[in-house]
Amino acid sequence: MKKIITVAGARPNFMKIAPIYKAFSKHTDKVKHMICHTGQHYDKKMSDVFFRQLELPEPEFNLGIGSGSHAVQTAGILVEFEKLLISERPDLIIVVGDVNSTIACTLAAAKLGIRTAHVESGLRSFDRAMPEEINRLLTDSISDMLFVTEPSGLQNLKNEGVPAEKIFFTGNVMIDSLAGFLDRAENTTIMDELKLKAGEYILVTMHRPSNTDNPEQLRAIVEMIENLAGFKEVVFPVHPRTKSAMEKLDKSLKQNNRIKLIEPLGYLDFLKLMKYCDLVVTDSGGIQEETTYLGVQCVTLRKSTERPVTVDVGTNHLAGDSTKTALEIVSQIYKGNKKTGRIPELWDGKAAERIVEVILKSFE
Ligand code: UD1
Repeated sequence: MKKIITVAGARPNFMKIAPIYKAFSKHTDKVKHMICHTGQHYDKKMSDVFFRQLELPEPEFNLGIGSGSHAVQTAGILVEFEKLLISERPDLIIVVGDVNSTIACTLAAAKLGIRTAHVESGLRSFDRAMPEEINRLLTDSISDMLFVTEPSGLQNLKNEGVPAEKIFFTGNVMIDSLAGFLDRAENTTIMDELKLKAGEYILVTMHRPSNTDNPEQLRAIVEMIENLAGFKEVVFPVHPRTKSAMEKLDKSLKQNNRIKLIEPLGYLDFLKLMKYCDLVVTDSGGIQEETTYLGVQCVTLRKSTERPVTVDVGTNHLAGDSTKTALEIVSQIYKGNKKTGRIPELWDGKAAERIVEVILKSFE
């Protein structure tokens, strides 16, 4: 019997580990699969609701690390996860995405000679000012198995000299969750609660340090949201980081009944709002992919994307960091200049099954 620990720390990790957990539950004769929550995200709205809605069990381990500077958070996870690895001695750990928990746990395992698998490997924004880019580069360079979501990931890893036998193009586990839970999202009442009509509102999310931690940029974003409300009603679930940055800003959003600032949403509610909105304006990584799968227009307020397939094949428009450009793109979309995207290769709801198959074979 092999022992595997899958790690999750922050909100965008939970929808990625859910299909992996489910796929391993069909192989309990061969693998004891356990979940470790690092505690990077701890608010009920950022964590618990996702476990519940994604039908994940209570994690076997919770490191309870919480917030802190990058060094404090990463080091805290490193120390606690090393202790866990020494007592549990798993045969493999699985990490997903690009958050601080991802690199911290990979590093702890690699130093102990424990095999590591990185799911969502190879993505590169080529912008090292992003903490996630550093996490991606470091995690990939020390992982043993690299599971890739899109063709750019294969090319990036090849360019970095990663041996081909470590790389597996298996598709997108986050899309496994999206495809699997979309029916259930239909049954939520969030649109009634917020009095929203399908195709009649713009959904906004913003939480990147590059957008929230620079007051000038955040002020421009607040103005952009006021302008977006000139097109359609705006719904903006506000991330805790953004909330505290907005509270410190010398400009607040004008009172406007066409702008709904709300608390972070659960997974199913957010899926429903994403499916039925007119368009999304975001700086998220995952939402660029989810909108591409749903065929929803997405305007991304970032200089670069590590997910170029969403622009080349999907419905994502990269605006750079200029809110003016983002508003111009939105205006073009309302003039009918929409992208007709298609669903990228292997985003078919079966990525986790393919990953588990590769892992089981690696034990033979
Ligand atoms: C982290 C990830 C980012 C991901 C994002 C999704 C890193 C480097 N960044 O950024 O890639 O897109 O999660 O949310 O790992 N806070 C709470 N409650 C929580 C968690 C955080 O109030 O449950 C507040 C704290 O004040 C904290 C701040 O949010 O200081 C930022 O949290 P942190 O985990 O440092 O990074 P995120 O911005 O959430």
